[in-house]
Amino acid sequence: MKRIIIVLAIASTLSAFAQKPKTTTEKQKMDAFISNLMSKMTVDEKIGQLNLVTGGEATTGAAVSTGVESKIAKGNVGGIFSLTTPQKIRKAQEIAMRSRLKIPLIFGQDVIHGYKTTFPIPLALAASWDLPMIEKTARVAATEATADGLNWTFSPMVDLARDPRWGRVAEGSGEDPYLGAEIAKVMVKGYQGNDLKAVNTMMACVKHLALYGAAEAGRDYNTTDMSFDRMYNEYLPPYKAAIDAGAGSVMVSFNDINGVPATANKWLLTDLLRKEWGFKGFVASDYTGVSELIAHGLGDLKTVSGLALKAGTDMDMVSEGFLTTLKQNLNEGKVTIAQINMACRLILEAKYKLGLFDDPFKYCNDERAAKEILSQENLKFAREAATKTFVLLKNDQQTLPLQRKGTIALVGPLANTASNMPGTWSVNADMSKVPTLLQGLKEVAGNNVKITYALGSNLIGDPNQQIWGTAHGRDIPRDNRPESEIIAEAVKVAEKADVVVAALGEASEMSGESSSRTDIGIPDTQRRLLAALLQTGKPVVLVLFAGRPMTLTWEQQNVPAILNVWFGGVEAAKAIGDVLFGDVNPSGKITMTFPQNVGQIPLYYAHKNTGRPLGDRKWFTRFWSNYLDVSNDPLYPFGYGLSYTTFTYGDIKISSNNLKPGQKIKLTTTVTNSGKYAGEEVVQLYVRDLVGTSTRPVKELKGFQKISLQPGETKTVTFEIGEEMLRFYNSQLKYVSEAGDFKAFIGTNSRDVKEVDFKLVK
Ligand code: NOJ
Repeated sequence: MKRIIIVLAIASTLSAFAQKPKTTTEKQKMDAFISNLMSKMTVDEKIGQLNLVTGGEATTGAAVSTGVESKIAKGNVGGIFSLTTPQKIRKAQEIAMRSRLKIPLIFGQDVIHGYKTTFPIPLALAASWDLPMIEKTARVAATEATADGLNWTFSPMVDLARDPRWGRVAEGSGEDPYLGAEIAKVMVKGYQGNDLKAVNTMMACVKHLALYGAAEAGRDYNTTDMSFDRMYNEYLPPYKAAIDAGAGSVMVSFNDINGVPATANKWLLTDLLRKEWGFKGFVASDYTGVSELIAHGLGDLKTVSGLALKAGTDMDMVSEGFLTTLKQNLNEGKVTIAQINMACRLILEAKYKLGLFDDPFKYCNDERAAKEILSQENLKFAREAATKTFVLLKNDQQTLPLQRKGTIALVGPLANTASNMPGTWSVNADMSKVPTLLQGLKEVAGNNVKITYALGSNLIGDPNQQIWGTAHGRDIPRDNRPESEIIAEAVKVAEKADVVVAALGEASEMSGESSSRTDIGIPDTQRRLLAALLQTGKPVVLVLFAGRPMTLTWEQQNVPAILNVWFGGVEAAKAIGDVLFGDVNPSGKITMTFPQNVGQIPLYYAHKNTGRPLGDRKWFTRFWSNYLDVSNDPLYPFGYGLSYTTFTYGDIKISSNNLKPGQKIKLTTTVTNSGKYAGEEVVQLYVRDLVGTSTRPVKELKGFQKISLQPGETKTVTFEIGEEMLRFYNSQLKYVSEAGDFKAFIGTNSRDVKEVDFKLVK
């Protein structure tokens, strides 16, 4: 036995040696190719590579690139974003091929949650807790996007977010560092695959480095000011995970970080990203991120461009500060040629890794575009994926699932709109092919059900706010009759039905970029509609469209069933039907805490204790940490989500109460499907470090398993805990574990858990 092990060990050492020269040669080949190319480049051509322009199909700022074609011809452009289709991309690439050195362009886009086959918004995908499925969404997105000419996606967005006022929580995975990191890894893998040179993989761009999700007061683009303890232990892990997973590029965030905006933040982009994390790819600014440094107060365009380059920003998105001022900066000694060379090299390396120097037109294949985009298989997957993201928040007296008989009144401003189904960043979705909820529900219901419809209310009482909340063609036509008349019409329709489905909440563009809100409840006029519908005495199901956690305290008290459907992609409508009629049992669990009211924000499960924690004391208790007007409890805790069935958890068995480094302890529990429907459950593992040199959160997610159970079935679920899972960044920012007492918790959400004690012994 021993001999075999030795032989194996020698063999694996030999094979490691055998592999090493191969990778070195690849790298050497690339270095030699790029050095040779760069030796022929003028300073202007090098600076040109650092210029990223928009193709104009989707812009997210006031500035729009101009004179793009002539700039490409002069070698003044490194990449284009927001230009799609093999024809248009071929045309742009052909111009690049006529430039002096024929350096291919890189083509990027915000391929955020699918491409034309648009999947649910990222916050919804996270709620599936289904990593293989999430990876597959990125894989399908890359396949479709590359078939349409693209090779670079501005995704994944891994900004941890604990403030649901911020509209961009829709684009990320929620509040948890562990889950965020796991999702970041699979997204990168899904986009990039194992071979970036393959024709159906694309380069990921991790964004937005860093801490963009901690914008003060949830107002977009706002300042962040954060301790290193919080950064390293909570906000940074998802970025690091994406980089460790091999993401080829990084996008810088817009925000100020502890006094230095990210785009000019040398600590962030060089010391942390390059030196500490060893990132080898290139760094792009966000949209006009370089010129915005002027408004931040760092100087004029020339000054800020120099600062951004020196800090570690390699590519300038849309500002053209690099293009127009870097040469002067160089002549004045404000930047060095080595700094320009380094940025240029990293961008050329990305193009090399994608295989663009071998074939600049490799992604321009009309046949692939016709065959691979929006295939039946992809649409089927999109529908299945959407059903897994919906979260059943409440279901009294088994109001759901609906029966396929009688009359269902579908009411609400979100009931009959196609463009509001896919959600923010669905720039590629073909709205003419997206069914409205009314259409989808009719299709899924079949012939035995009558579905009636009424608008019921406008989106928002204030017409201006309705316009602001329905940008980018995601309109909801306004009904100018008095509110009472619109509601009365809907009430009549409801009265004639057996059950009412109220499709309410946010329009697609009420979350996402530049869509922060201070009141995150269901808008005024819709709430009044809901109250009127409830007064009919008919059972009411609230189908909630939301790009963020919303405040639903009144709804939780008054509405019998609430299904949160987020924005579910191009197949959302049918998927909602699948779940409402019980063809699919909902299994989503929220990855951001839903607060009772806005005043509780930020509210997240992994908080620290105060010196006066309320604990099990009654609310309100004077001189303990609580509010006079609302308890500390969330409305729905992190990890929460119901099912049409029920799951019963057994007690935790632990293999040993003492954990030693290098060993693992096993935690075992049973989960029984104690209801009538087959269903899926996300079993969650949390840990608490009870005593240490730094304060630690009251619970931290450390693992989860998604299992499926037939009615009456019991499964045993086992988690292993090792010392490395208990490490954290201490006050010296050393990544350590500390011996002492811990608690482990297993349960159906972060609140409802069983617990067991153990010690880390060193
Ligand atoms: C601004 C957004 O912040 C970023 O996420 C996006 O990738 C760029 N615009 C490009 O559209």
